[in-house]
This record gives sequence, C-alpha cells and structure tokens, in this order.
Amino acid sequence: MIVAPEILARREALIALRHDLHAHPELAYQEHRTSDLVAAFLERLGIEVHRGLAGTGVVGVLRRGTGPGMIGLRADMDALPVLERNTFPHRSRHDGRMHACGHDGHTAMLLAAAEYLALHGRFDGTVVFIFQPAEETDGGARVMIEQGLFDRYPVDAVYGMHNWPGLPAGEFAVHAGPVMACADQFDIVLRGHGAHAAMPHQGRDPLIAGAALAQALQTVVSRALDPADPAVLSVTRFFAGGEAYNVIPGQATLAGTVRAFRPEVQDAVEAAMERLCAGIAAAHGVQATLEYRRGYPPTINTPEQSAFCRRVLTGLVGENQVRVDLPPSMGAEDFAYMLREKPGCYVWIGNGLAEGGCMLHNPHYDFNDDILALGASYWARLVGSALPLSE
Ligand code: NI
Repeated sequence: MIVAPEILARREALIALRHDLHAHPELAYQEHRTSDLVAAFLERLGIEVHRGLAGTGVVGVLRRGTGPGMIGLRADMDALPVLERNTFPHRSRHDGRMHACGHDGHTAMLLAAAEYLALHGRFDGTVVFIFQPAEETDGGARVMIEQGLFDRYPVDAVYGMHNWPGLPAGEFAVHAGPVMACADQFDIVLRGHGAHAAMPHQGRDPLIAGAALAQALQTVVSRALDPADPAVLSVTRFFAGGEAYNVIPGQATLAGTVRAFRPEVQDAVEAAMERLCAGIAAAHGVQATLEYRRGYPPTINTPEQSAFCRRVLTGLVGENQVRVDLPPSMGAEDFAYMLREKPGCYVWIGNGLAEGGCMLHNPHYDFNDDILALGASYWARLVGSALPLSE
C-alpha cells in the first residue's frame, strides 16, 4: 500500500477535520457551515473557489501547467435525519441529524487530496473539486448540473468514491458497469366506498383491494421481468382506516420504491404495475390511480474510466485489494446524474467489516478514520495518472 507520506503526515489534522464535520452534521441544502469550512480550506491553499451552485455547493479549481486535460473529483457533504446513538466525543451535536453515511469522511478525504495536490501535486491540467449538497434526498448533483456545473467546468471525466461497510479497510471495489440502482417511487390510491363494518356489502372495501394489490405487486419482479435483470419492488407504506373498529374506510393508499439498473426494466415494472392496479381495482369494484415517479437514475460506470480507476487502485493497494467481482448495490446514488453527463467511475472504499450493525444509515455507524489517508491518496494518484506531466 502506498499512501502519500505528505498525506500520512497530516493524519491527525485530517482526523480532527473529519470529527469536526461529524459533530456538526447538516441536512440537504442546509450545509452552510460545511460549505463555509470547505471554501475556507480551499482558499487557504490558494485554490480558486466558486460557490452557490445548488446553493451550498462548492467548486475548487486547481490548474497546473498548460495541459488541456480537466477532470472532476466529487464529494458529498450532507447528513441524514437520524438520531445518532454513538457516544464517542465527536458524536453529533444536533439531535436528529447525523453523518450516518460517511459524507463527513468523503468531504475530508477530498479536502486532504486538494491540500496535497495544491502543495505537492505534480500534474499537468486542471482538477475540479466538486463538493455537492443534498446527495441523500434531492439530487444536489442534478441541481448543480442544471445550474451549469459542466458548462463552467467542462471536465473530460468525473470520479466519485463512497465508503463501503463490510468491505475490509484497505480494499476497494470497482464495477465495470452498473454500480448502484435507480430509485423510483410510487404512490397508489384506492378509492372505494366506506361502510359500516357489520354491513360490508353496502360499501366497496379499498383495504381488502389494497391487501390483494400489495400481494400481487410481489409478482412484478418474479413474473414480468427477465430473471437475469435485477430489480426490486418494495411496498413500504399501507394506510387505511382511522380510529374506529367498526368502519370500513373509503380509501387506502400504498407507496414504495422500485430499484433497477436499466430504463427498459423500469418501463416494464411501471407497465406491470398499471395492469395490476387496473385489474385488482376492477376485481374489487374500486378505483385505482398509480403515480410512478422516476428518481435517481442508475449509476453506471463507463468502461474506459472503470479500467483506468482499476489500474490506479492496483498501483495504490495491489491487485489483491481491488475487488472487481462484487455485485452492484440496489441502493441509489445521485452521482448517477454526473455519469449521465460525463464519462467516469464511482468506486467503493472499504470502511471495514461491519460489527454491531454499523452499516450505512445505521444510528451506530461511523466513518473509519483509518481509511482517510488511503482515500485521499487514491484521489491524488488518480490525478497524477489522469493528468500526467509530459516527459
Ligand atoms: Ni452516502
């Protein structure tokens, strides 16, 4: 493993920075303190700073030499509305907000890389450091792009990194294609006719129709899709009725999420859901409306950049520490929007073996300080390889 000595020498400061971010988590589009901290850090290094994209977004630009090459490195800054259950000194100072996905670590690693590159970097071209808000909920990456991120900074390629609990510290994973799924949402309203619970024949029961529909929706993935195409359909909400034990409600609502890797699969799921809603509603004499909304698209690495990252990582940690055999995750990631615009690659950095339920979004989760210098070194090596000095 070849961690840059200059980064290793800054290890304690890097950990302190990460702990400070962890203690002060901010939710989507409210990352004001974090944004100020990031901007000040970059400015101190003499890095050109642009603020305001998607509100709290920060972009740093570092040029060396005359090379035309330009690459983007992206970190996310937002926290989650989770009540932290950790008791260590750097736990969240704000009840109900927590860096439970490690974006504190992602921000710290990219800042450490910026520091190294500004002070010691040997490369020829332009590095664009992208610190984005609102990865967790609302597509801060999409908003930055809509507000001109890649018009102002026409990068040749863009790179992302996420910590991965369960993958040993010191290891990375690279996917040649899909790495994260899409995250679509649906809402279904079933309108029947309320009645006295003792006289059900006088109404049309949307609750029973909803129960049948929730069951039937489980056949979408198993019966309507090619078994070789991964997809998930989860019903996550089912509301009907109120306080009374003796009232059949007039309405039931269901909601949930759909995950897949290809637009054709999303289309097929939506069509199958329409059929089932119409059919089950007709069978029960109620009305059904389905609202199906496309969310984050799937995150798909481009082959050339994926192979490039694999080479960079192999040089960093050795071939045995670079996993290329892991299946993609059915989770979602708004870096997908950047990969829709530009070639690039999103890698996983091992956060260590999860013990005691320390998976992402868990109230006991914490980013692993031992991988900060390694992740920063990956960024630094990537820049040196993507924007090499001419001989
Ligand atoms: Ni995350």
